[in-house]
Amino acid sequence: MIKKVQKSRPLKGEITIPADKSISHRAIMLASLAKGKSIISNFSSGQDCHTTMNIFKQLGVKIKQIDRKTIEIVSDSILKPANPSSYFAGNSGTTTRLLAGILACQDFDSTITGDKSLSKRPMKRIIEPLTLMGAKIDSTEGKLPLNIHGHKLHGITYTMPVASAQVKSAILLAGLKAEGNTTVIETAQSRNHTELMLKHFGADIKTDKNKITLSPSELTAKNIEVVGDISSASFFIAAGLIVPNSDITIKNVGLNPTRTGIIDIVERMGGGISIINRKNISGEECGDIKVAYNDSLKACTIEGADIPRLIDELPIIAVLASQAKGTTIVKNAEDLRNKETDRIKCLVCELNKIGIDIQETDDGFIINGGKKLTGGVEVESYCDHRLAMSFYIAGLICEKEISINGFEWINISFPEFETQINALK
Ligand code: S3P
Repeated sequence: MIKKVQKSRPLKGEITIPADKSISHRAIMLASLAKGKSIISNFSSGQDCHTTMNIFKQLGVKIKQIDRKTIEIVSDSILKPANPSSYFAGNSGTTTRLLAGILACQDFDSTITGDKSLSKRPMKRIIEPLTLMGAKIDSTEGKLPLNIHGHKLHGITYTMPVASAQVKSAILLAGLKAEGNTTVIETAQSRNHTELMLKHFGADIKTDKNKITLSPSELTAKNIEVVGDISSASFFIAAGLIVPNSDITIKNVGLNPTRTGIIDIVERMGGGISIINRKNISGEECGDIKVAYNDSLKACTIEGADIPRLIDELPIIAVLASQAKGTTIVKNAEDLRNKETDRIKCLVCELNKIGIDIQETDDGFIINGGKKLTGGVEVESYCDHRLAMSFYIAGLICEKEISINGFEWINISFPEFETQINALK
């Protein structure tokens, strides 16, 4: 589907963004592994999380959608799949990697498959640590499909070679049923939703600085209200800052410090962002974010420990940086090449087309910002939801209309995206 986007009038008002995708996936998984009845409220409307939900239904868990955003899960904590036990994870890396950890320690065999994009993504990063725990996983050169032969596992101590919450979570979820303790050591902290939620469901898990230790645990059902997704909010943060005379309040946004890199970057750029109504919901911090147009943004460098805290926001940060005076440098972000697409290559190619001065580097990109965007071209989403939404926001400030090919991919995380933008116009 081709979406045409024109220069926008100011965006003003209040919006609510969809529930956090990472937390929604984990809520389905942990409630399915826990004994009893859990209610998940404000569940994500994105396709990826519905993929996870459908897989756990296939795994024999009683999952009922009570209304659009409320899910009831009743489980006796044991997965009992119907045959054949092959699970289609669609476009979702989180589903695949976390599920692999859960399936590795079951007493049945399973297969995980995915769409074209997911089938190209690296799975060695989970196969290696899970194999060290005793898992038996076959793949084709570290890619999907994964054939998992359920096996008894034992705990390990694992130092993460890449900062990845998916890898960390796969290991911890496998550790729930392993013999002995499982310890993960992180060199750069990735999002910690799995650790927080495991604690919420009663697991014996401790975090000491960068070291997480989990003892084998039984989980007990718990209700979870999912906070809003800061990754979805980031498109509105950027739009509020770069569309002239905008003023937006984004309600109920998750503010877990392992995810708030985008807020730090806006502050580094001199953007001005305020947070009100701070609270804690189901173990996660959240609050309302207020942003307004700012015509004196300045460039900055984004690197090192910043990266895992804003990895999914880098495409929209590139659009934001195009309006900041000076040279913005993004370094140490080579893992962006392993996302739904090679996000460095595709982002640079398409943003150049609309008039952004951006150059690709091995591990990131360099933007000379502060210039008007010409637009007047068609850009490609590469079947990547975050690229499609980033280009849409860029389109709101282009001199001439742009067309985005493959815009329907926004449904992966944010089906209500355009309705929400229109509500602010
Ligand atoms: C996620 C972790 C990140 C992120 C992805 C969601 C998660 O991936 O990019 O969108 O829910 O754990 P990595 O673990 O590969 O960094």
